Amino acid sequence: MVATKCKPASQEQPVAVPVVAGLPMPDFRRIHVEPISGACGCEISGVDLREPLDEETLSEIMKAFEQFLVIVFRDQDLSPEQHKAFSRYFGPITELPQAPTYDGMRDMQEVRREADEPENVVPSFEHFHTDSPFLKRPPLCVVMRALEVPRYGGDTAFSNAYLVYEHLSDGLKALLDGLQVVYSGKEIWARNEKLPPEKRLRLREEHGFSEDELENIHPAVRVHPVTGRKALFATTAYFKGFVGWTEEESRALLDYLQSLAQHLHYHCRVKWRKNTLLVWDNRFLLHRGVHDFKYERRHLIRTTVMGERPIGPRDWPA
Ligand code: CO
Repeated sequence: MVATKCKPASQEQPVAVPVVAGLPMPDFRRIHVEPISGACGCEISGVDLREPLDEETLSEIMKAFEQFLVIVFRDQDLSPEQHKAFSRYFGPITELPQAPTYDGMRDMQEVRREADEPENVVPSFEHFHTDSPFLKRPPLCVVMRALEVPRYGGDTAFSNAYLVYEHLSDGLKALLDGLQVVYSGKEIWARNEKLPPEKRLRLREEHGFSEDELENIHPAVRVHPVTGRKALFATTAYFKGFVGWTEEESRALLDYLQSLAQHLHYHCRVKWRKNTLLVWDNRFLLHRGVHDFKYERRHLIRTTVMGERPIGPRDWPA
């Protein structure tokens, strides 16, 4: 059979959507990298995070972080100071107004559920979300380490917000590219007070943030400041509305967008063990704890690294 030279004009070209994390796979020489799923996430071995990192190892870790958005290290028994020192490779550590602090340290937070506590004690557990989007400069990443975890269950799941955006139609992309979101953390304490005690979240009781710092407007589509790659930046937690839209309209569109993040082919899921340490990109990746355990304690501690002010499609290139 003779191969035809020309394709028929009607044959559609495949759409170039990058759906596979880590491809093309960079050449890693100092660390071992094992992808977790086709969407995001990898496990890194061959590194001791208690020690300062040499330049080449650090640059490979950063490359893996950029490619996979969540990087997992096992058996990292770090002191709080070592945990903070590693976090600073990603940027300055920031406080959060709402998340409970760990061991009296303002720059470390904890996610803790006691064996006899209800699921809702941990904020935003029920939705894929990005942390603290109401801040002017929301977190770039979170560095989290497990102190105590259930024997099974209690994983953290992630959803790749680049992929959510890239699979939208051109029409919906164009609409979202021009939208802005009001995010607000102003009302969480007042709202929490009104709940019956067993339904209340565990929140930080005192903080030094002003009211103005707890509400900001950000683009619904976030652009990576270096690569220009776009991702959806509209999720339920702290969402107040799209600028210029009614509450009803805002909710309807948000519910649809939030449903897209549930697609399994955007996900990876990480099983914690004691001394597992994760770094996840909080700009382009959504996360949620999976509270499918009972009668066991889950205790994770974390630092939060400050990110840039989110850039929208209209601000890029700057
Ligand atoms: Co969170």
